[in-house]
Amino acid sequence: MKSLGIMGSPRIKGNTNLILDEALNGVQSQGAEVEKIIIDKLKIAPCREFYGCLRDGNCVIRDDMDDIYPKLLNADIVIVASPMFFYGLTSQVKALIDRCQALWARKYILKQTPPNSARKGAFIAVGATRGKKLFDGSILTVKYFFQSIGVKYVDELLVRGVDKKGEIMEHPTALSDAFELGRRLAQK
Ligand SMILES: Cc1cc2nc3c(=O)[nH]c(=O)nc-3n(C[C@H](O)[C@H](O)[C@H](O)COP(=O)(O)O)c2cc1C
Repeated sequence: MKSLGIMGSPRIKGNTNLILDEALNGVQSQGAEVEKIIIDKLKIAPCREFYGCLRDGNCVIRDDMDDIYPKLLNADIVIVASPMFFYGLTSQVKALIDRCQALWARKYILKQTPPNSARKGAFIAVGATRGKKLFDGSILTVKYFFQSIGVKYVDELLVRGVDKKGEIMEHPTALSDAFELGRRLAQK
């Protein structure tokens, strides 16, 4: 079993990376393979709406997405992790998701089915404030992303009230909840 963690924060020693690592430790504890990509270190252009993907399911832009498409398609478990930026995913995560219009086109225009239909996905998010609707828009985006790449949204961990770099280490439950989420994902 292969898992892919998508780390969406530009802050490498920040809260998102710390909590994602715990989730991936949980996945690994069940014997699954783990890979993490740090989007901020990659070159991923935003979607330009050239729509070459409608012809053959491939994006016409050449950058680090070339390596990410097969990783996304081959992972049995996909975890998207992002801090909240203005009630949304970071632009790093959003760029990666938008470029998956190519995979959306494969599924909905070219009617190709993804290789493995039992793929599972989870969303991990952290934000500084405590608003009830803090994660609502991002959950919709991640659900539609997963649907488009043939992954079932099965779990989420949404952590409020965490702001400073590394502050999540002091959170009473976030890291153990993340480990459990990872363990569950690799078991289900
Ligand atoms: C540009 C920007 C926008 C932000 N917008 C929000 C927001 O809308 N709601 C919120 O609760 N926190 C917001 N935050 C705070 C971050 O979500 C918070 O600091 C988080 O813990 C950062 O996680 P990281 O350490 O993984 O980057 C924002 C931070 C930045 C830099």
